[in-house]
Amino acid sequence: MKILVVGGGAREHAIIEALSRDEVTLYVVMKNRNPGIARFCEDILYMAETEIEKITDWAMEKGIEMAIIGPEGPLEAGLVDELQEVGIPCIGPTKELARLETSKSFTRGLFEMFDIPGNAKYAVFHNMDGMREWLERLDEYVVKDDGLCGGKGVKLSGEHLETIEDGLKYAEECIIKHGSVVIEEKFVGEEFSLQALSDGFTVIGSPLAQDHKRAYEGDTGPNTGGMGSYSDHDHSLPFLRPGDYEEALAITQKTCDALREECGVPYKGVMYGGFIATRDGVKCVEFNARFGDPEAMNVLPLLESSFLDICKAMIEGNLKPEMARYKNKATVCKYIVPKGYGVKSLVGAEITMDEDDITKMGAKLYYASVNEENGKVFTTSSRSLAVIGIADDIFEAERICEKAVSSIRGEVFMRHDIGTPEALQKRIKRMSEIRG
Ligand SMILES: Nc1ncnc2c1ncn2[C@@H]1O[C@H](COP(=O)(O)OP(=O)(O)O)[C@@H](O)[C@H]1O
Ligand SMILES: [Mg+2]
Repeated sequence: MKILVVGGGAREHAIIEALSRDEVTLYVVMKNRNPGIARFCEDILYMAETEIEKITDWAMEKGIEMAIIGPEGPLEAGLVDELQEVGIPCIGPTKELARLETSKSFTRGLFEMFDIPGNAKYAVFHNMDGMREWLERLDEYVVKDDGLCGGKGVKLSGEHLETIEDGLKYAEECIIKHGSVVIEEKFVGEEFSLQALSDGFTVIGSPLAQDHKRAYEGDTGPNTGGMGSYSDHDHSLPFLRPGDYEEALAITQKTCDALREECGVPYKGVMYGGFIATRDGVKCVEFNARFGDPEAMNVLPLLESSFLDICKAMIEGNLKPEMARYKNKATVCKYIVPKGYGVKSLVGAEITMDEDDITKMGAKLYYASVNEENGKVFTTSSRSLAVIGIADDIFEAERICEKAVSSIRGEVFMRHDIGTPEALQKRIKRMSEIRG
């Protein structure tokens, strides 16, 4: 089967690796040369992932039979609509269905309309009328830009916004940029990600993971695309209670059903829910319309069943829960990023590593936004390499990950605290204080 994968990061490297366990011929669209991806591919189109017409022409020329869209940009640009128009089925929603991710007001409204549990108290503003009163009423609040912002559009009271004036000012900026802004209640608890696969009727879960957005250790510094993540052998997380997973999956199933009713077509692809476990149960922060990056690396390497079969079933609409079997292993993923990442990345710095050594230690290496030239690997402005330790428990996975990164050299940095006993203990303690 000829499959097109759109995207050139570590998430797409993991997707391609999962697909390559079956008989497939892989084609990829990416901006830079990702050497991890390139070695799996029959052919590569070097291009921005949002060039939807050019990508569609190329896919037709190559006789592509199925496409998998990695990042959100092309979903928003309508790549799935274009590909479906010429008869290429896709893993990933159409532009209309992708509003699940691209419009936070759409998703909050969907929750409200279909009475889906886990919604926040929220209001959508198109101008400043009544905003001050709403902020005062919420006390602690979150201001969300109503468009795609690459993880940089959300600001929280008490963290980024000190005063009501700060909140008003930021909300106004959002309105100027995207025409509207969502202002919602701030939940208190620990976050987790549930990446579910959907054929538009049935959703099936995967192991939960927790990402780390802040650039520096101890969850400090600027927000990033994600510095690393971990998952546990029981597919839950150490700070959660029994039932949290099921609650998040039930929210996802209801959202899938609501989308089908609202848009009149089934949602085929990944529904990646960001959740917070709070004193009052599981709350939904947002949905994304694709795998998480880094969280894809916590689940896809554990998949024992065929990812290709799952993708086919999503397209045919006969997905069954038993189709996705994941190993009972823990994973820790840490990103190696260019010096300055989060503020101003050092672009074009060479990175060296011993891939055999990394594999020998039982870890996995996924290339991210790097560029290979003449057999050498260079940084771009985004994350460089993801290293994943896999073991029976999180601490062992963390140790494997740390040993494996030791051969990586260059002007780069990473967070060593992800998945350590100290970091985990802090989260467990915090959660038990919140929930009593
Ligand atoms: N209602 C909320 N309560 C508490 N924290 C929130 C809330 N909404 C968002 N956040 C925090 O802000 C981060 C980014 O918000 P999110 O809705 O995931 O947007 P995006 O990923 O598009 O930036 C979340 O990961 C979470 O830490
Ligand atoms: Mg998010």
